[in-house]
Amino acid sequence: MKVLGIFGSPRRQGNSDTLMKAFLQGAAETGALVEEVFLRDLKISPCLEIYHCFKDGTCPIKDEMRGLYDKLVEADVVALGSPVFFYSLSAQAKAMIDRTQALWARRYVIKDDFPGGNRQGVLLCTGATKGRLLFVGSRLVAKYFFDAINVRYAAEVLVRGVDEKGAIDERPEVLEQARDLGRRLAQGEVMGPIKMDPLAV
Ligand SMILES: Cc1cc2nc3c(=O)[nH]c(=O)nc-3n(C[C@H](O)[C@H](O)[C@H](O)COP(=O)(O)O)c2cc1C
Repeated sequence: MKVLGIFGSPRRQGNSDTLMKAFLQGAAETGALVEEVFLRDLKISPCLEIYHCFKDGTCPIKDEMRGLYDKLVEADVVALGSPVFFYSLSAQAKAMIDRTQALWARRYVIKDDFPGGNRQGVLLCTGATKGRLLFVGSRLVAKYFFDAINVRYAAEVLVRGVDEKGAIDERPEVLEQARDLGRRLAQGEVMGPIKMDPLAV
């Protein structure tokens, strides 16, 4: 069982990092092969919209996204962690997601599909405020990201009201929820697809 954790925050050891660490700790306890990717450490260009990927499903931009495509296709569980930035995901996460247009093109334009089946996706997201609509944008972006890479949007942990670094340490119940989710998904428990009315959280 391969579990890929994508850390989308620019802030080291921030709230979404801590949430992701808990998730991956749970997965590792089951013996899963856990891999961490820190987007803030990678040079990933935004999509340049040249549509090369519509020809053969690959992106010609030579940067560190190159090493990520195979990981996204091969993982059994793909976990995406990000803070809410302006009601969406971080720019680091969004740049990576836009570049998965190449995988979307493989699926929907070239129709050269790649493993899906029971591959599962998880969104781990933190935000400072507490409003009902806080995660609307992030969830929609995640939904179409998971679809592009052909994983089922299986689960999510969405944490409101955490702002300064370390705030999530005061919320042991959400960290335990993430740890438990990591354990269960790494053991192959099939979840979701989660209810995708983005307003219903
Ligand atoms: C550029 C920026 C935009 C943000 N936008 C929002 C927002 O729209 N809504 C919100 O509740 N919090 C917002 N926040 C606060 C973060 O979501 C919050 O502090 C989060 O816990 C940070 O997670 P991290 O430590 O993993 O980066 C924003 C923070 C920054 C720096």
